Amino acid sequence: MADVEALPRTPPQILGPFYPFMHTPIDGGDLTNGGKAAGTVLHLSGRILTDDGAPIVNARIEIWQANTHGRYAHPNDTTTQPLDPAFHGFAVVHTDAQGGYAVKTIRPRAYQVSPGRWRPAHIHFQVDSSSERLVTQMYFEGDEYNATDAWRNSTVRAGALTVDPTPRADGSQEATFDIVMMRA
Ligand SMILES: [Fe+2]
Repeated sequence: MADVEALPRTPPQILGPFYPFMHTPIDGGDLTNGGKAAGTVLHLSGRILTDDGAPIVNARIEIWQANTHGRYAHPNDTTTQPLDPAFHGFAVVHTDAQGGYAVKTIRPRAYQVSPGRWRPAHIHFQVDSSSERLVTQMYFEGDEYNATDAWRNSTVRAGALTVDPTPRADGSQEATFDIVMMRA
């Protein structure tokens, strides 16, 4: 019998104050509205896996985030950063037969939550398999606020939540973010 070590589960993170309950998520995974949204396009993909490495098929993934200016389309976000009417910061996608998902979005920017206190750029995820829900956040390597963010550092495994996008020839970027849950 093979001695298979379980994959470490993706650390959970807080839901946060900007969950877009008042909006309908777009289907299809293009948050950029066909590339009209401002900012750097990010092609984000990955797989949802159980901790024994099996793909979780037809998992439901909600993604929500700030725009390129660090602003959420949410009444709780009272900052003065501009909204981007072309950016739809809330989407739902489902994993395919290999547990894979893909979205086209915009790299969000860090935002100030109180005087002198900033959150690093991040994207929120809520993933539902048929038996489990995981709420987490994905961060970006090199963000100057990563090291001081209490939420990101609520886990010692923040590295598992952090991607380092690579550039494409067209000026966009791509990154892979896999998520490990316990059960399909
Ligand atoms: Fe957030």
